Amino acid sequence: MSGTSFAVPADSALPAGEAEVCDRAPPFPFLKWAGGKRSLLCELLKRVPNQIGCYFEPFLGGGALFFALAKRHRFERAVLNDRNPELCAVWQAIREDPDAVAQAFDRWPQEQEAYYAVRAMDWRALKPAELAARAIYLNRCGFNGLYRLNRKGGFNVPFGKQSHYQIDLENLRACASCLQNVEICCGDFEPVMQKAKAGDFVYCDPPYWPASSTARFTHYDGQPFGAPEQQRLAEAFRSLEARKVRGLLSNASVPETHALYAGLRLDVVQVRRAINRDPLKRGAVGEVLVFL
Ligand SMILES: C[S@@+](CC[C@H](N)C(=O)[O-])C[C@H]1O[C@@H](n2cnc3c(N)ncnc32)[C@H](O)[C@@H]1O
Repeated sequence: MSGTSFAVPADSALPAGEAEVCDRAPPFPFLKWAGGKRSLLCELLKRVPNQIGCYFEPFLGGGALFFALAKRHRFERAVLNDRNPELCAVWQAIREDPDAVAQAFDRWPQEQEAYYAVRAMDWRALKPAELAARAIYLNRCGFNGLYRLNRKGGFNVPFGKQSHYQIDLENLRACASCLQNVEICCGDFEPVMQKAKAGDFVYCDPPYWPASSTARFTHYDGQPFGAPEQQRLAEAFRSLEARKVRGLLSNASVPETHALYAGLRLDVVQVRRAINRDPLKRGAVGEVLVFL
């Protein structure tokens, strides 16, 4: 079945309003992530089975759906993955010691001079708590809450602080608590997706289909995620079905993504995008949800 017709799976009924209410309670993402899925949680949760053996999220980012499912106890185990090594190190540091991250964060004044000094630090040379604190600091004090790397892998967002950000220790502790016994991997999506077995569930939230034919490099890490990577992902996603693995995938609703997933169940929903350099493009846009 293709097109926009859609039946919510029988085992995934979600009481009206539950997503909005639960999302305000910790744990929720500790980073503001471009393409983060907090505003789409209601739609995503409706399409996730109630009981999952192992939950896989191969394009982790801020992990909005992971936290939403963790607080609902919807999975037994979880494997999280992103190809951004700094982001993975941040998640690992939060899991190990959220209090140390909060203490390190509070050491840096939230003003322009300090911001550029913190930005100039090499995260690889920092202790785990410091590198996680630095990522949250840059994320909250940088312009428009962006995380953007140049082609050399350097974080290049200018200072943009408006008001003082108070780190949310209660949330960091709740995030750490649901990360205990969770596997955090760092690499390409494909080997992680291959690990999923019958009864498991995979949620794929890749970089959007490139807005123009020349836009091959993502702002996440300056690495390519163009048409060849989208094609490779579509093949990996389709192969889940034969292994009786259920899955959900989100992407921009454009003719190319509809063609990639033709023949699978798909639906189009509206999502508010808060992060865009052009304020006029921060409104509602179409997002395609493909599910197995
Ligand atoms: C749209 S974001 C995910 C947002 C996330 N769902 C959230 O709620 O915050 C896409 C993520 O995919 C990661 N990524 C890009 N290419 C990848 C690849 N080949 N394998 C694994 N992760 C990749 C990026 O680093 C980025 O964090």
